[in-house]
Amino acid sequence: MTTASSPKPSSTKHWDAVSVIIAKRDGEVLPDDAIRWFINAYTEGTVADEQASALAMAVFLNGLTPPELATWTEAMIDTGDRVDHSALGRITVDKHSTGGVGDKVSLILCPLVAACSRELAVPQLAGRGLGHTGGTIDKMESIPGWRPELTAAEMKAMLLDVGAMIASASGNIAPADKKLYALRDTTGTVASIPLIASSIMSKKIAGGTQNLVLDVKIGRGAFMTNVGQARELAETMVGIGQRAGVKTVALLTRMDQPLGSMIGNTVEVNESIELLEGGDIAPRSQDLADVTLALAVEMLDMAGIDADPAAVLASGAALPVWEGMVAAQGGDLSAPRPVAAHEQIVEAPSDGYLADYRALDFGIAAVRLGAGRARKGDDISFGAGIELLVKPGSPVSAGQPILRLMSDDASTFEVAADVLADATTIAPEPSEIPDPVIERIS
Ligand code: URA
Repeated sequence: MTTASSPKPSSTKHWDAVSVIIAKRDGEVLPDDAIRWFINAYTEGTVADEQASALAMAVFLNGLTPPELATWTEAMIDTGDRVDHSALGRITVDKHSTGGVGDKVSLILCPLVAACSRELAVPQLAGRGLGHTGGTIDKMESIPGWRPELTAAEMKAMLLDVGAMIASASGNIAPADKKLYALRDTTGTVASIPLIASSIMSKKIAGGTQNLVLDVKIGRGAFMTNVGQARELAETMVGIGQRAGVKTVALLTRMDQPLGSMIGNTVEVNESIELLEGGDIAPRSQDLADVTLALAVEMLDMAGIDADPAAVLASGAALPVWEGMVAAQGGDLSAPRPVAAHEQIVEAPSDGYLADYRALDFGIAAVRLGAGRARKGDDISFGAGIELLVKPGSPVSAGQPILRLMSDDASTFEVAADVLADATTIAPEPSEIPDPVIERIS
């Protein structure tokens, strides 16, 4: 695209937002100090939301070179504090997902890994829902009383006492990301490799973990829809981590179908607790358990801990760690969690085998039901969501209930049911359900 002549950023001028936006819009490489100036000015509020949206869109369309991305990530880290966990005397290990539908892995994984060894601490800094994907903090906030923000002293006490924590990456950890993340959610600028990589890695590096496992989702419900893009994102993040001295490994995992059997907030907490209680894994949660255990194996391996996370999960030993984590942040697991005011059942339209649930449409339908946000700052409805009564691979007969929709606003059912009707495939023959873990990148 050609443009009217505009001031070009150079490393000697004083920056203004419009010239930085125009330079990136026109495909130029931004000087380091332009990037640093813009990120700081946006964090401080002198660059407006609409200007940051425009730059995010320009980056979405034109990308960042590796040196630009390194500066962008460092600038985001430098807007806040860096946590130092060295006084804990524990090996720190954390995980982050690029985001999926029904992805409640962190709720199970953090207490599970901590339950595997007292030598470990899992300091997870998490985010809110983004686009059609859910967010760990939103899910945790469906527990009455639970508060996401922890001071450095509270984090330290929790990691020593309980061994794990899930806290919001707000406060003063990469505050630039807090603002940009919410803005990207509502401006169509989420699915960009440099923006995702810098968002995740700025929080994780500032969060102070020594070891990091990334769950890079691929498929129709992920921001990366093919293996090539996902591999590029994984390699980009592993590179940023290694350069910053954080041992980083990535697993590429499938996000074509929603993970597990619940999509929403309260309902995802409920499914996580079922797994943490131990015993046999319900078939409809098997894919969730498989991804969680694959990530746990990597985390333990990086930390040099010899433990069998499958056996620990089955024993129920992670449940007291989870209860300790929730209680330390004011959460009351005995109090009733929000339940949606209305329910609607979706039935199978024909006999056959459930072949497919397209995860993206399920994520969109969950947002329409109230479980996610349409606009920055919207309230969410914690009880809203979707229960998969039947998972792909199972036989179904016409009229059999396959989905339960939950919403506080019954008028949302029609549009959600329409989205889901097109997103569900019933086939005459059973289809193979592939292994959810595709590849490891280190
Ligand atoms: N998760 C994040 O923390 N940031 C993104 O940009 C996408 C997923």
